[in-house]
Amino acid sequence: MLRSKICLCLTAPTLEQDVKLVEKYKNWIDLVELRVDCLNQDQQLLIREFPKMIDLPAILTIRRKSDGGNYTQGEGARTVLFAKGLSFATLDQKKNFAYIDMEEDFSIPSLEEAARAFGTRIIRSVHNISAPITNISELVKTIPHSSDEICKIAFMPKTLSDVTNLYREAKKIKNQDVILIAMGHYGVSTRILASKLGSLLTFTSPKQEDLIFTNKEFQEASSLQSPNSDSLKNETQTSAAPGQLDPITLSEVYNFKSINKDTKVFGVTGFPLAATKSPLIHNIGYREKGIDAVYIPIPAATPQDALNFAEELNITGLSVTVPHKETIRPYLSQISEVADAIGSTNTVMKQDNLWYGTNTDATGFSKALIEFLGKKNLRFCKVAIIGAGGAAKAVANAIRELGGKACIFNRTVEKAKELALQYKFKWAELSPQNNYILEKYSNLIIQTTSIGMTPKEDADPIPFYTFKGTESLFDVIYEPAETKLMKRAKESGCKTTNGYRMLIHQGTLQFKLYTGVDYPPLEGLSI
Ligand code: ATR
Repeated sequence: MLRSKICLCLTAPTLEQDVKLVEKYKNWIDLVELRVDCLNQDQQLLIREFPKMIDLPAILTIRRKSDGGNYTQGEGARTVLFAKGLSFATLDQKKNFAYIDMEEDFSIPSLEEAARAFGTRIIRSVHNISAPITNISELVKTIPHSSDEICKIAFMPKTLSDVTNLYREAKKIKNQDVILIAMGHYGVSTRILASKLGSLLTFTSPKQEDLIFTNKEFQEASSLQSPNSDSLKNETQTSAAPGQLDPITLSEVYNFKSINKDTKVFGVTGFPLAATKSPLIHNIGYREKGIDAVYIPIPAATPQDALNFAEELNITGLSVTVPHKETIRPYLSQISEVADAIGSTNTVMKQDNLWYGTNTDATGFSKALIEFLGKKNLRFCKVAIIGAGGAAKAVANAIRELGGKACIFNRTVEKAKELALQYKFKWAELSPQNNYILEKYSNLIIQTTSIGMTPKEDADPIPFYTFKGTESLFDVIYEPAETKLMKRAKESGCKTTNGYRMLIHQGTLQFKLYTGVDYPPLEGLSI
């Protein structure tokens, strides 16, 4: 069965820096791509030495600007550079480039012959850096100039449906070695699921901090050159291509090496879905429990796009986040009582060929709260819920289930009232005048607004309230790990916690729903 290889793209301005990157990442990669177009001009003259400087197979690539690279000199000069890379080939293939990337419209028979003669395999590539390529299975038949070439197609999707199409097309490809990539944010799944796509390899970039290091040295080097020097153009291009993950994340968060054609896929959808901890939570669980599954980010502008993608990849468990938690409702055949009560769906599952929605936020919160308080219910506990938005709805539901008496405080008092009436709670406007009510409901204070996420000085939703030290404070925010409010409460002697365990628990509950298997014990897991 095909197991895709991990290729590290090297975009440093000097070979020495590229070698340092290879050293740093060698435990997580199978091969490298030397992006000659990112090298300083004087370094480009030395590329023939590169395969001898490292202990891994290398791809020789000179990417033109029009294909997303930095190379702006003409095709004549590029041909000479390719020839330099292939020159003085030795019978010891490890000392030659293992692959050479030549675009479909580039054809120099003498170079191709030289490559073949010394075992350098040709990757015949087509790039569209601004639009999708759709007729992939047909193109794969016409792109290679001969049957021994690897066909590479890379394009920029405009929507997730362009990526879905790539998976559909990939299934039709037979008997042809291919590298298939959907670039950019929408295409991130194709980087992770290369083995499922049948792609021989996946391209990765060093972590941003290593690229900054590279770039800093590069800037120092280039400041010595004339400001118009060609290599200065490299300055803004630090990563090799948009959407690439780093090899460590690919291996350690996504268990890349264990993914194969049969691996079951789950994921989280939302937009823009910038940073999400869900893949980490779920993938650690699969690894610990020996489940052949992978959990991926699925950025989708609409719920429909996400569900079409899920159908194509046979995804039967899909987590849903902002902004689709409410808007996915019309696409579901059925939803659970709790999702209906909260008015939000964070968990979607395929059951009997129909999409079913539920919500694990309330139960996730309950579990975290029970752990925090060390008691199983909230009888005799007076609870203040600060805020009446999406998070507050899950919290209110859980507090009701646990038997607590609550008052909901919100800037927009109508929203507090509406939510409170649903659960027979009290409500009040979030203002200093109502401090005396807050004092009455202060056994447990649950902060659900987003204010504390900002580093601003006034990032405190209840600045008028003075903690006595007897309150328990649960802030659902987990980034920052300690909000201004938490700090203030702690300094007064209060017990405090943030939303991290809630986040973990809503994920572990989904894990059980998707796989039927209990999540492994959290103790000792690095999440
Ligand atoms: P979420 O889904 O994260 O809960 P939300 O539904 O937009 O996000 O709700 C945000 C909550 O934070 C609301 O209770 C909101 O109060 P309003 O209903 O009055 O908008 C509250 N919030 C946000 N910014 C606030 C601020 N500067 N002061 C007070 N409350 C604020």
